[in-house]
Amino acid sequence: MCGIIAYTGNQTVVPILLDGLKRLEYRGYDSAGISVISRKKLKTIKSAGKLNQLEVKIDNSIASHCGIGHTRWATHGAPTDENAHPHNDSHHRFAIAHNGIIENVDALKNSLANDVIFTSETDSEVIAHLLTQQDGTLADAVRAVVSQIVGTYGLAVIDQQNPNTIVVARNGSPVLLGIGDGEMFAASDMAALIRHTNQVVHLDDGEIAELSPDGFKVMRMDASVANKKAITLNAQFAHYDRGGHPHYLYREILDQPDTVTQTLSGRLDERFSTAHLGGLNFEARDLIGIKRITILGCGSALYAGMAGAHMIETLARIPVRAEAAAEFRYRNPVIEQDTLYIVVSQSGETFDTLAALREVRRKGGFVLGIVNSVGSTIAREVDGGIYMHAGPEVSVASTKGYTSMLVCFSLLALLLGRSRDLSPQRGTSIINELKALSENIQRVLTLEPSIKKIANKYKKSSSAFFIGRTNGFPIALEGAQKLKEISYIHAEAYPASELKHGPLALVTKDTPCFVVLPNDELLQKTISSMEEINARGAPVIAVASTHNKEESTRIHKLAKAVIQVPDAGALTQPVLLGVVFQLLAYHSAVGLGRDVDQPRNLAKSVTVE
Ligand code: F6R
Repeated sequence: MCGIIAYTGNQTVVPILLDGLKRLEYRGYDSAGISVISRKKLKTIKSAGKLNQLEVKIDNSIASHCGIGHTRWATHGAPTDENAHPHNDSHHRFAIAHNGIIENVDALKNSLANDVIFTSETDSEVIAHLLTQQDGTLADAVRAVVSQIVGTYGLAVIDQQNPNTIVVARNGSPVLLGIGDGEMFAASDMAALIRHTNQVVHLDDGEIAELSPDGFKVMRMDASVANKKAITLNAQFAHYDRGGHPHYLYREILDQPDTVTQTLSGRLDERFSTAHLGGLNFEARDLIGIKRITILGCGSALYAGMAGAHMIETLARIPVRAEAAAEFRYRNPVIEQDTLYIVVSQSGETFDTLAALREVRRKGGFVLGIVNSVGSTIAREVDGGIYMHAGPEVSVASTKGYTSMLVCFSLLALLLGRSRDLSPQRGTSIINELKALSENIQRVLTLEPSIKKIANKYKKSSSAFFIGRTNGFPIALEGAQKLKEISYIHAEAYPASELKHGPLALVTKDTPCFVVLPNDELLQKTISSMEEINARGAPVIAVASTHNKEESTRIHKLAKAVIQVPDAGALTQPVLLGVVFQLLAYHSAVGLGRDVDQPRNLAKSVTVE
């Protein structure tokens, strides 16, 4: 999705903007640009394509100390030089960089004089032209313009007549202020700021901020001042680095023994054989009152939620369902007082998840968040939550974020279970299982050579199936998701029992079938499904937790290849089996020469509907 970086201070601005844009690259983009004020003139330079195509057009030494930059992910209009941001008004006084969508763009265009010439097909350009019609300070002008916008915006504006000032505004698309020493930054994402500062202010919807080298002032839409306090984020520049690896994704897969340790840190209560989750804002009494749970998320977060639903139902015997956030919000859901709603999001900015959260809260429901990004919009709007503490996830495809979601659900399931009928003995064995998780992931990572071999053997397949039953099904969904999004191999996940109700027609000797075999009471049944596939001549690749001799022999007999993960226990099996599929997708994508970290058409943090 689009990204914004802005700077005003004493340093030469161009290198800061270009570096900021590089940090935003991971979000996905198709064009980029910058605007700076130099010797009383506004200069805008932009280019379709990747940042190196912009860099060749820019003189790094332009004398300027104030500017804005943008990476664009096309919505209105193709990815061309003209449609790239920033956009200027016809007199080249203002430059604007906009994330979001303006729904009433036609009406706004009609309100302008007939002779205003638009140079792009974007909705955003109208903002620059509207600014020329306003009076007062730059902040006044921006307020007057955004008050006319129906839609979403994260906006940064500079004005050639106010050469050290930047004004930013937010409605539905994140904007962070970064506080430096005699300098101020703004960005849509912490990744663009972390090199310079970890002192940040998150703007809320309806807020406008005026930035100068001396500081910032945040105002509301009625021009009253909002007293915003800076927070210190725990992120480090090193987190945004590939750590010597060829891809962020690979680093993030390998980081998981550490990231799960961080997720678990301080949360295992051995004395009472339960989990300690300080941010829930719940009394023990409230836990008993929960009659149902609804989990909401998108993509891999939804699949983690489906796995989490099984964990909670098993340990706490509370009915749980997981639903796609966008589907939920649009079906006018019935919100119940004794239902706990949980939104799950790595970025904390996914638009549909945020909208679902707001729908529940508007109707009086209580919402918990499982969120990675500290201070993100979802994290700030929930009633309570569990931070994932997985560190920044840079690669577009989620790996360590997804895994930490599963760990958070394990902790919540343990807590809810222990508030009901789960015995202290079972609680202790779960704690031990969670304590061993990091080491067990490490063991799975040692299987990489054989997983890579399988990836290379099947990477030319045009289609693949992933099947599993109950606990195994969400793992199959996520396995298929990882493979399709980064390798572009068509992959479908089905409950194993559903194969014969249709999809079996597509199973041929050319469609590898990955079978998820957690060591649970349905293992024998899933092994029978392997027979079904085998009979159609399709290669079966088994990913199994069991180490039972008899079962293993059967599995080996039926499968072309078997990946055997540690038999670690019911709760952590989804994590271990999931890591296998992450490595499978990674090596398939590398083998096919794909852009692993920025797969086509996809963006990190989907902040539009
Ligand atoms: C898949 C992936 C996406 C995200 C989804 C939700 O690898 O990354 O499916 O899981 O867009 O994102 P968050 O968790 O940020 O809400």
